[in-house]
Amino acid sequence: MRRKPGKQPVEVASTGHSWDGIEEYDNPLPRWWLWTFYATIIWAIGYVIAFPAIPLVTKATEGLLGRTTRNEVAADIQRFDAANAPIQARLTSVDLAAIKDDPELMNYAGNAGAAVFRTWCAQCHGSGAAGASGYPNLLDNDWLWGGTIEDIHTTLLHGIRSPDDPDTRYSEMPRFGLDELLDDAQIRQVTQYVLSLSGQPHDAAAAGAGATVFAEQCTACHLEDGTGDRAQGAPDLTDAVWLYGRDGQADAATIQRIVHDGPFGVMPAWSDRLSEADIRAVASYVHGLGGGE
Ligand code: HEC
Ligand code: HEC
Repeated sequence: MRRKPGKQPVEVASTGHSWDGIEEYDNPLPRWWLWTFYATIIWAIGYVIAFPAIPLVTKATEGLLGRTTRNEVAADIQRFDAANAPIQARLTSVDLAAIKDDPELMNYAGNAGAAVFRTWCAQCHGSGAAGASGYPNLLDNDWLWGGTIEDIHTTLLHGIRSPDDPDTRYSEMPRFGLDELLDDAQIRQVTQYVLSLSGQPHDAAAAGAGATVFAEQCTACHLEDGTGDRAQGAPDLTDAVWLYGRDGQADAATIQRIVHDGPFGVMPAWSDRLSEADIRAVASYVHGLGGGE
């Protein structure tokens, strides 16, 4: 017998199963439940046909709609590329020096350049572009290879001592100690002379002897007065900015090591990794950081 509150009991057939005298009624499933159940089956079949669903060895079945999150990202990227295409075309066609006169280009280059910098440059030059030992500070107006936007553009395109680029900026300071061009005493002396060039505390007698060594070995690149030569990427040794050394300060041990081992700073060429528009954007960004000439 089945009861509903306030209704007369109704006779219901039994399935005939009985356990310890407890019988199982043969009640039909509630209709709403049954239809929901059928609906989920139909939905599942439709879903499996339309969307990626069944895992295979390397990927899932693709689904008729071809919708994947990867495709969605690709479509988003395409949308952004299409939206940026006109301004990128303009950025790559104008004269490098004319970029700064066009507020719209400057705005785009500033944003895109900052994004490129964060992705590709910050590992070496620091997220604030202040550099580290061996990696030049790009905020100041002290440049190894030149600080006009054209210079920066060339540096980025071809890199510095970049092994795969035939047009890379190249120069090589000799390894005076390793290749036995100078003995240890001479290296100590010329180190004291280099310290004296920038007005640092030094041993005057050793520096005096070092001046001769410097005149013979170093002036071809660092020039007679030690102010350096951009054509060869040779740093100015008379100022307070140091490429190598702790916290941008000269110290005798580092200078001695540089002269003994020879520095060989390498910056990759970017022409095969970044588009011309990205290179121009980041060149303009770096040029605008404060030290641009
Ligand atoms: C793998 C490390 C590395 C990465 C990544 C890198 N650089 Fe450099 N960069 C260097 C080194 C090292 C030098 C100095 C080379 C030398 O000693 O002459 C340099 C030099 C430069 C110079 C020349 C500075 C001058 O004084 O003339 C510029 C400009 C520059 N980098 C910009 C960039 C930008 C922009 C990016 C990103 C697209 C970048 N760098 C990515 C290592 C790197
Ligand atoms: C063939 C050219 C050349 C000659 C000769 C040369 N240098 Fe250099 N020197 C360079 C270059 C290029 C760099 C920067 C290299 C780099 O970043 O990898 C440099 C870097 C340096 C530095 C590091 C400067 C800094 O800002 O940290 C010192 C110090 C130095 N040289 C001293 C000397 C002394 C002393 C001599 C002579 C005994 C000498 N150099 C001879 C080309 C030269």
